[in-house]
Amino acid sequence: MQLEVDIESKTFENAAGGRQHVLAGVNFALGAGEVGVFVGPSGCGKSTMLKILAGLDHDFSGRVSRPAGARLGMVFQEPRLLPWRSVEENVRLVAPHADDAKLSALFTILELNAHRSHFPGELSLGLARRVALARAFAIDPDFLILDEPLASLDEALAARLREQIAMLVDSRSVMTLLVTHDVDDAVRLGDRLFLLSPRPARILADLPILTPRNARGDAEIAAIKIDIARRINGDRIERDAS
Ligand SMILES: Nc1ncnc2c1ncn2[C@@H]1O[C@H](COP(=O)(O)OP(=O)(O)OP(=O)(O)O)[C@@H](O)[C@H]1O
Ligand SMILES: [Mg+2]
Repeated sequence: MQLEVDIESKTFENAAGGRQHVLAGVNFALGAGEVGVFVGPSGCGKSTMLKILAGLDHDFSGRVSRPAGARLGMVFQEPRLLPWRSVEENVRLVAPHADDAKLSALFTILELNAHRSHFPGELSLGLARRVALARAFAIDPDFLILDEPLASLDEALAARLREQIAMLVDSRSVMTLLVTHDVDDAVRLGDRLFLLSPRPARILADLPILTPRNARGDAEIAAIKIDIARRINGDRIERDAS
């Protein structure tokens, strides 16, 4: 199972009729069970790219070859729940064959048990994001796309969920693409880190992390974070100078 991505360019037309160049040169391949994490400045084109990779937007130049027959679980940046359905119904709708024990385990992991019968309008953003995560995992995905899944959660809950995402991904060897603004999350979860430039986004660096997720010590994590900061600053200085 392999994802092959060669996006040459993506533009949007704005209301005034001008064109905005959003993606310029996103090129990588990802194998089964690999977690690729994208880190890049706000507005650089990350969500646009994920929608292309999910097959939801075909209006770009280049080529994306998705793993054939893969079940895709997707968490959008905004939770996108059906407002007239309860939390439990939102999850069951996408996974009608999931058994009760499995759903209960997911609700427990994501700390949603007390909210099963609530409606999306009654949820905080952090809760709604957790429901979106439950929905994505309920279908037993082989290909998972997560757009800032840990945003607006407190640090302790984000850390617990990060562990759970790592466990779920590792237990089923799920090919995963994840966008985050949190470099710590990126280094703890990723097998490959893709640093993106400001818009139009291109890959500034493709950094593999060879140590398995659960064997990464604090010193290694700190060193990788320093390397990332150095590369991002280097790019900024280069752009300022040109
Ligand atoms: N449907 C659209 N039509 C026109 N412009 C769009 C559309 N979607 C996104 N854009 C523009 O494309 C650029 C990239 O947006 P995108 O949402 O991909 O950024 P992002 O990297 O995900 O940002 P953030 O970190 O804030 O989520 C922005 O300038 C945005 O205004
Ligand atoms: Mg985004």
